[in-house]
Amino acid sequence: MSVPILPTISTSFIVISAVLVAIGWGLIYKKKIEAHKKVMLAAGVSALIFFIIYASRTIFVGNTSFGGPDDLKIYYTLFLIFHITLATVGAVFGIVSIMTGLKTKLSIHRKIGPITSIIWFFVAITGVAVYLLLYVFYHGGQTTSLIKAILGF
Ligand code: HEM
Repeated sequence: MSVPILPTISTSFIVISAVLVAIGWGLIYKKKIEAHKKVMLAAGVSALIFFIIYASRTIFVGNTSFGGPDDLKIYYTLFLIFHITLATVGAVFGIVSIMTGLKTKLSIHRKIGPITSIIWFFVAITGVAVYLLLYVFYHGGQTTSLIKAILGF
């Protein structure tokens, strides 16, 4: 089985990020504030690395279309839209969580921290599912880059 390298690396970073959020949650449960801060910032960096790889690939290499059976394509597309929406909402919540944590606006932070964490777990789970559907269970379809699509080469 061969899988493309960049999506494999970027998907790994989402998973690492979610694992760090789970560890960070465990740390604050034990009142280890400094460790919570470090691990949550590492989770943020990991998410940022995912995004940089994903965005560069979208621009320079391209996005890959679903290569599975045609009758599954609509479900795949809906699931992908769900994942992308969740990831976007998760990113906004993540930024607000980090800012309220750093500015010690703790009443807001305490409310949205758990929501951010749970959204982020679902982002990772659905991200892995998209990866499996696109590259492991079926072979990816065509890849078209933004630059190719715009400039035609
Ligand atoms: C630099 C970043 C961060 C700092 C300095 C920070 C700091 C803190 C502090 C001091 C608390 C304890 C609040 C209290 O009980 O009074 C806390 C709670 C919490 N934080 Fe963070 N945090 C940061 C980032 C994050 C991020 C990114 C998330 C989510 C992904 C998060 C999730 C949580 C959760 C789940 C709690 C426990 C809330 C509860 O149930 O009481 N934190 N944080």
